[in-house]
Amino acid sequence: MPILQAEGCARLGEVQAIPADHDPCLLQGLGIGPSKQSFADYTDSTYALREEAMVTLVTPARKTIQVQTIARDTVTIRSLDWDRDRFDIEFGLQNGTTYNSFIIQGEKTALVDTSHEKFTELYLTALREQIDLSKLDYLIVSHTEPDHSALIPLVLKLAPQAVVVCSNVAAQFLDNMIHAPYARRLVKTGDVLDLGGGHRLEFVQAPNLHWPDTMFTYDHGTQVLYTCDAFGMHFCDERTFDEDFEAIAPDFRFYYECLMAPNARSVLTALKRITPFTLETLATGHGPLLRFNIPEVTRRYDTWSQKQAQAEAAVVVFYVSDYGYSDRIAQAIAHGLTKGGVAVEMLDLRTADLLEVQETVQRVQGLVLCPPPTESTHSQAVLGSIFAAVQDKQRIGIFESYGNQESPSQILVNQLVDLGLTLAFPTLKVTQDPTPALYQTCEESGTDLAQVLMLKQTIQKSKAVAPDLDKAMGTLVGGLYIITARRGDIQTAMLASWVNQASFNPPGISIAVAKDRAIESLMHPGDSFVLNVLAEATYPPLMRHFLKRFKPGEDRFAGVKTYTATHGAPILADALAYLECRVVSRMETNDHWLVYGVVESGDVSDSEGLTAVHYRKVGNHY
Ligand code: FEO
Repeated sequence: MPILQAEGCARLGEVQAIPADHDPCLLQGLGIGPSKQSFADYTDSTYALREEAMVTLVTPARKTIQVQTIARDTVTIRSLDWDRDRFDIEFGLQNGTTYNSFIIQGEKTALVDTSHEKFTELYLTALREQIDLSKLDYLIVSHTEPDHSALIPLVLKLAPQAVVVCSNVAAQFLDNMIHAPYARRLVKTGDVLDLGGGHRLEFVQAPNLHWPDTMFTYDHGTQVLYTCDAFGMHFCDERTFDEDFEAIAPDFRFYYECLMAPNARSVLTALKRITPFTLETLATGHGPLLRFNIPEVTRRYDTWSQKQAQAEAAVVVFYVSDYGYSDRIAQAIAHGLTKGGVAVEMLDLRTADLLEVQETVQRVQGLVLCPPPTESTHSQAVLGSIFAAVQDKQRIGIFESYGNQESPSQILVNQLVDLGLTLAFPTLKVTQDPTPALYQTCEESGTDLAQVLMLKQTIQKSKAVAPDLDKAMGTLVGGLYIITARRGDIQTAMLASWVNQASFNPPGISIAVAKDRAIESLMHPGDSFVLNVLAEATYPPLMRHFLKRFKPGEDRFAGVKTYTATHGAPILADALAYLECRVVSRMETNDHWLVYGVVESGDVSDSEGLTAVHYRKVGNHY
């Protein structure tokens, strides 16, 4: 299927910049449209070309729209956001993202999800090209986070007759988003909507993937399952489908780690609910649609979630959807917890079931929560259930989201400490828009909590290795190195000894990095790092410095003399040599990531000497 590139890109750029107040065209009255002349340019130069099923419209801002038939009577409108411009942790791989919307046309017409508000003009224009909005029958809302739902109010202005189809929880959120009457139909697992023409849509509730309102929609006529965030990834590419799984696998994994791993039990429940369906396509809300690797991706979700759910310690993270940055901060903490091997369950204070709250709090070893909105009576009731169910010896972490100033976290801390709980990390107070450095601090806080909860199990496991095997493993020898990495404002370091040359041409090295290391987040494919080689004669002070336990977000380089490598990571001035590397790939083991990087440059210091060597007596620790 050819891709038609729009002509007149500059004119499309102008469209974005033109004030909307004279717009007589289809967006008239919505305050979002281009001027008449510009819109004429847009339609003439672009849509006149549109005779194929796929069209790509280009703007200088690297936002494009792709329209593609994916099944009988079914079209996707994919908003391609090539340039990452947000700092949420699941965007860490920096491959852009897409927001996928779908039109199903039986005897009646349904639209599944919309797009991000930054695509307002492009998306609505493409949508109108596909359907007459005055004849749209249903707007199916899989999930109400703004990247999929921001344009719902505008679509309903253009299609006031459309019935919104959503879960009960989604309707609560929609009521705060759509400040006008609208028709709606609440659905739950097993409910069916027949569009005619063979398109019988069955709904499946999939709460917590990754908000409490999420639901899937399965079209029995095409065997397409619309999954919104689930099975997605932040990967922007003109390929609509997953024909190159190797290219997308790291993003698929990373997205799972950030958004789905903290809800592993919910993932397993959702997988069970979709088992009866024959799946031709997983129509995801982000990234390529999945068609060629469905058994593999569902198997991976199942394996990862089984492992996560069976962890020996669990933490419940309470957050509030769409309230300040509560959900994003909670997500970063949860990511740190899962890195540390702890099972996480995330519950929304505004919607959580009180019995579920009680059961969960009684079962877990740790709790993370933020002060709930004072105006939400349900949140206050959930807080009451938490207080009634907590037990002393449980660890707690508190974060304060930008937006809930009325309910200071210190009161919450005092109440929980009075009940016998122990604070696991300093309270995280967010008073401005989160930065990557703040998310990193949140992640490290989560990992610290996980390490405390897993300490006993970690010691037990290390003692479980047979003594002879343990000694034999201890004969393996490594050098001593400091790995340093930097991304944006974040920089960190790690003492390493599991380092080896791994290729001649190009020169490459492998490093085993424990999954709960902070630096792991900065060592994904495409990231750069520096391997600093320590000298036998001078290594002790540097080793002692980087071995100490740092607080979340603490500067690892205070008091250490460094200079900056080409890609920005610190080079230690007192190292014997350094190698500047770029990560090419990672292999997962049970408790480490084996990172392979190519060496792009390097140098040795003026002082001659030997590499410091790390001898061990046993192999059950470093
Ligand atoms: Fe992609 Fe949770 O929105």
